[in-house]
Amino acid sequence: MAKKALIIGITGQDGAYLSRLLLEKGYEVYGALRKRLDSSPHNLATLGIADSIKFVPVELLEFTNILYVIKKSMPDEIYNLGAQSSVALSFEQPLFTADVTGMGSLRVIEAIRVLDKPVKFYQASTSEMFGKVRETPQTELTPFYPRSPYAASKLFGYWMAVNFREAYKMFICSGLLFNHESPLRELDFVTRKITYSVARIKHGLQDHIDLGNLEARRDWGYAPEYAEAMWLMMQQSEPDDYVVATGETHSIKEFVETAFSIVGIEIGWEGRGIQEKGIDKASGKVVVKVNPDFFRPTEVDVVRGDYSKAREKLGWSPRTSFRDIVRIMVEHDMKLLD
Ligand code: NAP
Ligand code: GDD
Repeated sequence: MAKKALIIGITGQDGAYLSRLLLEKGYEVYGALRKRLDSSPHNLATLGIADSIKFVPVELLEFTNILYVIKKSMPDEIYNLGAQSSVALSFEQPLFTADVTGMGSLRVIEAIRVLDKPVKFYQASTSEMFGKVRETPQTELTPFYPRSPYAASKLFGYWMAVNFREAYKMFICSGLLFNHESPLRELDFVTRKITYSVARIKHGLQDHIDLGNLEARRDWGYAPEYAEAMWLMMQQSEPDDYVVATGETHSIKEFVETAFSIVGIEIGWEGRGIQEKGIDKASGKVVVKVNPDFFRPTEVDVVRGDYSKAREKLGWSPRTSFRDIVRIMVEHDMKLLD
């Protein structure tokens, strides 16, 4: 009989790639929607898989709703990808973020516990929990230091997952995933904001991009490969936590330079701090400006993950290079505007 999986957060970037993977593996996929059940989530439509998913209504703020949906669908595996996932927005909406992202995870774990059925659970944890990093590279044993309401909420979800695994012997895995990107990324995350703006600038629809901190560094991987790591964790005989990363780190500036280079524009930098500007070397036009509105009250300056455990125990390694990720995203956005 086909395995059943319930994906909470199916409309997001990772929900779409994980759904596609599980459908390819023959799973019956239940997708949690918090909007109208007859809407057509655009990421799933983009991948051409919306018709293969059984949609169920799930709101992470509503415990009885979660309990009822799990009881009715009785999945073998639940992937909790649902969250208020924007770090920037979490500074504006800390209580809401804590409720959805922190308490929401606990509501799902507690629903599985009270149902008392052997359901496997995946918790979407994050490199943001390392925040002001205590050591580099970060591993499963690196102490945490969250730097935003989002990261603190995820840390609560993480420790609940660990505690319920130890207390009730539940099969719970946490993926400590570093940033992962794709053409399905929402436009308010920096990578897609850059690739979409570069495509608009190239098409003459926009003059420049306003960005915040250009010096921050991230360990960026390719989202479809990170969905594979989630699934692999859930197929092991014992539940555990794994860092999923590339081991490389690049600055926002490097991302900007690479994205422009893909459309044939070479960038030079002038000025410092909030006066810094990215100039199109050929035309002399300013194409990048710093806008302090995009600075955060506290920042994660640099992260870099060590994925040795995932490589050794799951046989997982990243395959797509930094430049190829940027190229895939820019080419997608250029096509979108064509
Ligand atoms: P995303 O695109 O922002 O997707 C978030 C999903 O959560 C959406 O489907 C959203 O549904 C759903 N959601 C939000 N609030 C909800 C609520 N109250 N009840 C039910 N569902 C709700 O995020 P992603 O990039 O795919 O990431 C997936 C998960 O991994 C998130 O938990 C994120 O925090 C975590 N993570 C992401 C990364 C990364 O680099 N992408 C790295 C580490 C961890 P709507 O469409 O209805 O809003
Ligand atoms: N969003 C955004 N917009 N970020 C900017 C901008 C801008 O205009 N300019 C500079 N940045 C910097 C941010 O200050 C941050 O240092 C970096 O770009 C990355 O920001 P985001 O793309 O918003 O991602 P994030 O790293 O904060 O969070 C994402 O990755 C986490 C994994 O580490 C989200 O997907 C989280 O949900 C996820 O947990």
